[in-house]
Amino acid sequence: MKLKVIKFGLALATASLLTACAGHQSAEQAHTHFTPGLGEIMAQSAARHAKLWFAGQALNWELAAYEVDELHEGFEDAANYHRTHKQIKQTIPELIAQHMDQPLADIERAIKDKNLQAFVRHYDDLTVACNACHQVTDFGFNRVTRPAFNPFANQAFGLSN
Ligand code: HEC
Repeated sequence: MKLKVIKFGLALATASLLTACAGHQSAEQAHTHFTPGLGEIMAQSAARHAKLWFAGQALNWELAAYEVDELHEGFEDAANYHRTHKQIKQTIPELIAQHMDQPLADIERAIKDKNLQAFVRHYDDLTVACNACHQVTDFGFNRVTRPAFNPFANQAFGLSN
């Protein structure tokens, strides 16, 4: 009787262990197949766009250059994972090349030159270009602006030295 109870307990434990493993495996599989949606990539880009502003304002050119790189990577992901999107007629890589290549190159130059005035001008051009793509894709209700305040309480934007 006692042995039976132990056996039953063991069987239960094994069963739950197997279930746990199966759960783990499927979570891992889901992870490898996970593709961020265009909206998710855009939300990340909006955070980078805001951080870029505060890095520039703090004359932290290294951080500013990093945020521009991250924007590039986000748009690469958008182009690779979302060649087409919903009802949009043009392809996403085409639209990105049209709207982002020039303003990103311009702001990169301003950052290399450590030129705050040029940075601000090209930052505003970049923002206009983000919104231009939203307009032509019928997502014009997503309006990006210069950030009104810094929501990133846990990141230092100024130079440490
Ligand atoms: C290909 C043209 C294109 C470019 C360039 C573009 N966007 Fe978007 N953006 C979109 C589309 C399309 C959506 C809507 C995606 C969806 O279906 O959720 C979007 C959505 C967004 C959203 C809403 C996301 C949310 O979850 O609230 C934000 C914010 C955004 N974009 C910011 C930016 C910023 C910042 C830039 C420039 C640095 C930019 N976008 C450049 C096409 C573009």
